Formats: sequence, C-alpha cells, structure tokens
Amino acid sequence: MEFTAIILAAGKGTRMKSSLPKPLHRVGGHPMLGWSIDAARAAGATRTVAVLAPDSRDIQQWLDDTAIAIQQEQLGTGSAVAVAREVIGRDDGIAIVMFADTPLVTANSISALVRQVADGAAIAVAAFEPDDPTGYGRIVQGQDGTIEGIVEEREASEAQKRINLCNGGIMAAKTPLLFDLLDRVTNDNAKGEYYLTDIVALASADGHRVAHNLIDETEILGVNDRVDLAAAEATLQSRLRTTAMQQGVTMAAPDTVFIAADSVIEPDVIIEPHVVIGSGCHIGEGSIIRSFSHLEGTRLGACCIIGPYARLRPGTDAGDGVKIGNFVEIKKTKLGDGAKANHLTYLGDATVGAEANIGAGTITCNYDGFGKYETLIGDGAFIGSNTALVAPVTIGARAIIGAGSTITRNVGPDSIAVERAHTSEREGAAAKFRETRQSKTKAKPRS
Ligand code: UD1
Ligand code: CA
Repeated sequence: MEFTAIILAAGKGTRMKSSLPKPLHRVGGHPMLGWSIDAARAAGATRTVAVLAPDSRDIQQWLDDTAIAIQQEQLGTGSAVAVAREVIGRDDGIAIVMFADTPLVTANSISALVRQVADGAAIAVAAFEPDDPTGYGRIVQGQDGTIEGIVEEREASEAQKRINLCNGGIMAAKTPLLFDLLDRVTNDNAKGEYYLTDIVALASADGHRVAHNLIDETEILGVNDRVDLAAAEATLQSRLRTTAMQQGVTMAAPDTVFIAADSVIEPDVIIEPHVVIGSGCHIGEGSIIRSFSHLEGTRLGACCIIGPYARLRPGTDAGDGVKIGNFVEIKKTKLGDGAKANHLTYLGDATVGAEANIGAGTITCNYDGFGKYETLIGDGAFIGSNTALVAPVTIGARAIIGAGSTITRNVGPDSIAVERAHTSEREGAAAKFRETRQSKTKAKPRS
C-alpha cells in the first residue's frame, strides 16, 4: 500500500548528553533514524520525509533518498509534522507519522496502521499497554470504546492518569485531513507546545472514526537517554539472535553474542560464547566462530574455523575452509581456499593464496609511517614462524620461507628463502661460564 512516512527528528535530544545528534546514535550498528526509514520502506512507503532541526548538517549528510523539511523552532510534535507539508504538497493519500527515537517499530505495525486508514478510519494510532504508563499520552475512550482524544501526562486528570492504554507515538491519517486538523491545533497547554496528539480529539469531535492498533511495548520503546539506548540494543540483539537461530545458526550462549543488524550468517554456522560480529559481515555455511573473536566487515566462505581470540577487521575476505587461529589480526586481506594462519600473526593489505600456511608470529610490515604497501603470497606457500614480510613484497607459489626471516625482496615460486645469521656454537662454554660466575659471586644460580 502506498503512503508517505513523516519521521520526526528535530527534537533536541538533550538527555543523550552527546555531541552526536540523537537520531544518529546506533542500535545494532545502524543509526536510529535509519531503522525508522527502513521500517517505513519495508512497509511500502513510497516517500520518506525527515523533519530536522536547522543545525542538522550531520544528519542531512547521512540521509540519501529521504526528503528533508526543516523545523525552525522546536514547538512540538504537531508543529514538526506541519512543516512537512511544504515538502509533501498536495497529496490525497495516506501519511504516517513516526519518531526517529523509536527504532524498534516493525514494518508490520506500520502496515497495520496504514491499512486501518485505507479501510476507512480517519486516523489510526499505535497503542500499547505499558506496566508503567507515566510520561506517555493516554488514549481516552468513550463508553462504547470510541477514541475521543489523547491526553498528555501533564494535562491528564487523576482519573485519566489511571488509564493504561497509551499512545505509542506513531499514527497514520489521511494526508489532507492530517494537515487540516494540524491548522486547528493550538499551544494552549502546560508545555506551550503544539501537540500532534490534539488532532485526535478534533477529528473525533468532527465525527471522524479514530482507530487504534495494539502493539508490543518493546516495539515502541522510545530512546531518550543512554539507558534507553542500551535497552533498545538489548531488545534488538535478542531479535537478531532469535532470527539467526531460526535460520540455522547454533549459539550455545546466545546472550553473550553480539550481531550487527546488517550481517549475514548462513545456516550451520556455530558461534561460541562471547563473540562480536560487527557491521558488514557475511559468514559462510558451516563455519565455526570460536569464543572471544571480533569480526567487522569480514567475508568468510564455507566451513572456515575462526578463533578463539581472532580479530578480523574490515576487508578480510576468506575463501572456503580457511583457518584463522588465536591472536591473529587480519585487515584488508584476501585468503584463498584452505589457507591457514593459526597463531599470533598480523596480515594487512595482503593476498594469501589457496592452501598457503602462515606460521606463528608472521607479520606483514605493511606501513612505513606514510604509505601502506601490499604483500602477495602465492598458492601453497609456507611462511616459517616469526617471519617479517616487508611490503611491498611477493612470495611465489609453493615457496618456503625459513623461520625467523626478514624478507625484503621478492621470492620466486618453489624457492626456499632464509634470511638468518649463522649460529655459532662453543662446546662446553656454558658450563665454564657458570663456573666462573659462581666462584666470583659464591651465589647459587636461581632456579
Ligand atoms: C510523544 C507523544 C506521546 C506519546 C510518546 C510516545 C506528543 C505530544 N506526545 O511524547 O503521546 O505517548 O511520544 O513515545 O506527540 N520532535 C520534533 N520537533 C519538536 C518536538 C519533537 O521533531 O518540536 C520529535 C523528537 O525528535 C522525537 C519525536 O518528535 O523524535 C517525539 O518527541 P518527544 O518530545 O520525545 O515526545 P514525547 O514527549 O515522548
Ligand atoms: Ca520521546
């Protein structure tokens, strides 16, 4: 169903105590405003309009296909919706008003409200029944259940404060009616603001039907401070983990796993306790992510084994059956099928061929303080432990690098390269050394 979404994001958000505008604070790795826009589009919004404060350059830079209306003064939710009119123009369709600080609203709930209006209601309000209604607008019903208005906490009488049916904040309406009603809203109230919620009483008094749709409290959770932000994150994480498990991912301790919302995890992946899968990850079927691993911007093929204690940074791109073990850091590096880096390694700006084996303590020296340089390691190459590969450098296919080497020039395919001082051995010298030390100090060696 076609409709326009008006997303209010001009509030000051002072309780966040942040230099970052509230709508850009992230939940599941995605800005809150983005969640509202995505949900609206998933429900079928053909147009999204964000209402922003004048000093909102950061938000404007972040937005792409969303139209912008500037609310010069923050005079309330009613005045905020009214400024969207100049962007929307003449429109005989349906508009839905959403808030940029309720990131967990689902497309289903949005669709349900739009459908109620399409089916003949003048306005449809998302309602919920919280354990504690304090602070929310109360939905006032007549004896027959007709919605007569929404009363904000500050204006509510004692009897109204006992009403448990609350306004979730989002509402759909016929667009022309929405703006006509807003023209009649005044700021004659305790806060001196133009309340969007006042259109409900005006519509009802004119004989229009106002519908409501009951939705889950967790969906409507408004983020006003960092405590709310953490609560929203917890709810979202639980949703993401449940979805992943339903799609075939095993997690022994799901509560300890963090998943960014844009990451894709294929079936039969096993995620051990205490793993962070940040933004932009794609984890191939049958892979195992062991405990305490941290992944971001990483692509893994099928049946990879990662960690424990692996750090995969953006640009890690592994084929199938790749093994990355403990205390390995990888950045902007492609690894061919079956490549292994099992312990204590840094690979940055590198390409590692299929079946190559990277020994413990291998470091690609990719940075000289000014530029970044590439390391190319051919298929089947064997890099001995504690090797420094000083980039730019190429190691040919199947070449072997002796342990402890510092490689500063290219090594051809099938070559062995060792860069190492020769070992000198003096027989019996250790015993002699101890003897002279003991006679001088009379001290026993510490065991
Ligand atoms: C609002 C509702 C209340 C509802 C609650 C649900 C009104 C008058 N009240 O109250 O009934 O129970 O949400 O969470 O609508 N904003 C602007 N410009 C403004 C003022 C606000 O863009 O001038 C934006 C804010 O950025 C925010 C949204 O509107 O995204 C909601 O504003 P807020 O002040 O948080 O409303 P509540 O007091 O929570
Ligand atoms: Ca709010």
